[in-house]
Amino acid sequence: MKAIVHDTYGPADVLQLRDTDRPTIGDDDVLVQVRAAAVDPGVWIFMTGRPYLARLASGLRRPRVPVLGRDLTGVVTAVGARVTRFRPGDEVFGTCLRGSYAEFASAPQRRLARKPANLSFAQAAAVPVSGMTALRAVRDSGQVRAGQRVLVIGASGGVGSHAVQIAKAYGATVTAVCAPARADFVRSLGADDVLDYTSEEVDRDGPVYDVVIDTGGDRPFSLLRRALTPRGTLALVGGAYTKGPVLSGYDRQMVRAPLLSLFVGQRLRSVSAVERAEDLAELGRLIESGALTPAVDSTYPLAEAADAIRHLRDGHPAGKIVVTMPESTGR
Ligand SMILES: NC(=O)c1ccc[n+]([C@@H]2O[C@H](COP(=O)([O-])OP(=O)(O)OC[C@H]3O[C@@H](n4cnc5c(N)ncnc54)[C@H](OP(=O)(O)O)[C@@H]3O)[C@@H](O)[C@H]2O)c1
Repeated sequence: MKAIVHDTYGPADVLQLRDTDRPTIGDDDVLVQVRAAAVDPGVWIFMTGRPYLARLASGLRRPRVPVLGRDLTGVVTAVGARVTRFRPGDEVFGTCLRGSYAEFASAPQRRLARKPANLSFAQAAAVPVSGMTALRAVRDSGQVRAGQRVLVIGASGGVGSHAVQIAKAYGATVTAVCAPARADFVRSLGADDVLDYTSEEVDRDGPVYDVVIDTGGDRPFSLLRRALTPRGTLALVGGAYTKGPVLSGYDRQMVRAPLLSLFVGQRLRSVSAVERAEDLAELGRLIESGALTPAVDSTYPLAEAADAIRHLRDGHPAGKIVVTMPESTGR
């Protein structure tokens, strides 16, 4: 099968379109003929091996898994002996551990759910990593309730574009922080108000937000806390993932936020996506009810996956970038 492979860490130039073996499946796995896969900062981190801390998971000297990509959507072609939820022909979406920029991918059944019927494959590919992270931020870390005021920083990005819509679905009033060129886009997602990060700061309106969901930039906690009510919650998703070569923002999120949270009235929560079928199903319900529509900025064919990743870094996309597969090249 064709796949996007890298043998070393580096910029997008290290990626090659190559013929590789189709993945094998274990008893709990599903073989999916991939129709589309998405691009997110995690893909950039696995490709570059930066921050170095991430190499503890991906391989210290070279990538342990040569095929890139995590989210996927496609059609089930085979199932392992213990798989009960899917059968060949089912359309699914979710995440995999051994690369989705390929014609076929193997995924554990617990990381998959039925693809929402009202989505194209390109739209469905946009959901898993970003949607599950946004759901965790809004529902679990933020515990957003109807009537609350929520600020979403990085609202035009992958996680942010989902978070705006999910917070609206939970009944919140949402202010979206984005660049001026993205104001119309975030309003189309349902944002009630827009804050232009190139000319205004997040404390523009004073300490009015019950929940701040931070997915972009590298603002000091003191500034973020000035936007929060005295008992408000900061849900830290991520920030400047290109910042430092060793830790990047991990120390801010994993160490400094929980420590500071012990000493202040506001809750500072680090959001970590747990990839599981229940959350995909919850996102599927929001999508089928019309409350959530994944935003696809652009699509790239598999052979141009490197350009898709460059576009994420430099193109300021509105929503998600998606890699699409040739339809029927399985041998
Ligand atoms: N915790 C987890 O489990 C988890 C899961 C997924 C992602 N993440 C992390 O979450 C972050 C966002 O991911 P993503 O997929 O949403 O990335 P993305 O699609 O690149 O979105 C990032 C957004 O941040 C905005 N931004 C950049 N600088 C900003 C600033 N100074 N002020 C306000 N907004 C700014 C960008 O807007 P412009 O286009 O205008 O620059 C963009 O819309 C990344 O750091 C990623 O690694 C964490």
